[in-house]
Amino acid sequence: MQLFVKGLRLKKHSISITLEALGVNMGVIHPDISKAQTLPSNYYTDEKLYLQLLEKFPRSWNFIGLESMLDEKTIVPVSIGEIPMLLTKQDSQIHCVSNVCTHRGMLLCQESKSTSSITCPYHGRMFSLDGKMKHMPKFSEVKNFPADTDNLPNAKVVNWHGLLFANLSSDDLFEEYIESVESRMSFLDFSKLNRDSGLDRLHELSANWMLYVDNYLEGFHIPYVHKDLNSVIDYSNYETEVFENAVLQIGYAIDDEECFDIPSNHQDYGKKIAAYYWWIFPNLMLNFYPWGLSINVVLPQGISLTKIAYYGLILDKSKLGLGAGGDLDTVEDEDQWIVESCDKGMNSPLYQRGRYSPSMEQGVHHFHRLLTE
Ligand code: FES
Ligand SMILES: [Fe+2]
Repeated sequence: MQLFVKGLRLKKHSISITLEALGVNMGVIHPDISKAQTLPSNYYTDEKLYLQLLEKFPRSWNFIGLESMLDEKTIVPVSIGEIPMLLTKQDSQIHCVSNVCTHRGMLLCQESKSTSSITCPYHGRMFSLDGKMKHMPKFSEVKNFPADTDNLPNAKVVNWHGLLFANLSSDDLFEEYIESVESRMSFLDFSKLNRDSGLDRLHELSANWMLYVDNYLEGFHIPYVHKDLNSVIDYSNYETEVFENAVLQIGYAIDDEECFDIPSNHQDYGKKIAAYYWWIFPNLMLNFYPWGLSINVVLPQGISLTKIAYYGLILDKSKLGLGAGGDLDTVEDEDQWIVESCDKGMNSPLYQRGRYSPSMEQGVHHFHRLLTE
């Protein structure tokens, strides 16, 4: 058995070399979905590719938390891709600074706390909450110290209706990043969104983060995987819209199930929309239901290890638990079983890559195009 499996692995390797020799790039996703093949399995199993793809995170805007998580003088460890960062608040200003000490690289803070400064637990280097180095013991003889490089590097931070976003390196305008969501969801009163920490969840799953995103980006699986959800939404009318850096899926309510009250000047007026499922590249999901907003953040922790952080912001508590946004815990469990099973499938030498359904998997196709661009 062992030899058989090893033989297949060798064969898989030689297939890939042959295609490359022919000039076929295994990573390219054909822009025409009817001709395209899905992402090759090694994208989910190869450590080098995993790290390369994570480099896309700091080049984009990243959701890093909620304003309501931060009291004055608090520090909260967060991450951009796998880059450890700290969210801080001082004099009403929110900062996102590196969580790595500029002395010898110690992680500065591993859990949220109230404090007026950041002190390294290794040799006591102290920083203000905006990342400036303030004090270092036993360094009085050190020449040219402190320099700018002794401060903690900073990310740009934007506060969008209480949702905090950070960007480490790109010049992309935040307004352009959020534009599709902002304009479509403008009929909601964002100022009334209130966090309910009882809706917070932190799930951990043994699967590659991209499999979680793939699964999110199609409603194709709903009748097979989510029997209860399927009973409240109209699968035959499920819609997917693709934007430059985002995908919107719309679930319609059946019969008298809960739906949005959409004003007459909105493009969706008259439609019985039960849920707007937004995904923004690379790892943010904003699920709008008549009760409010469920935020899911996909946090890669390793090639086959992912955390999913859930936050809930309420608009109308009386609608909580109803319709498509009702039993989110059950839907999450059902999805996790699928995603973890696909992770095992990706490691089989008998699977290389698949094809897309042009009517049901436009979102997955778009994600794979953005990943391999
Ligand atoms: S590593 Fe932080 S003070 Fe030494
Ligand atoms: Fe699902």
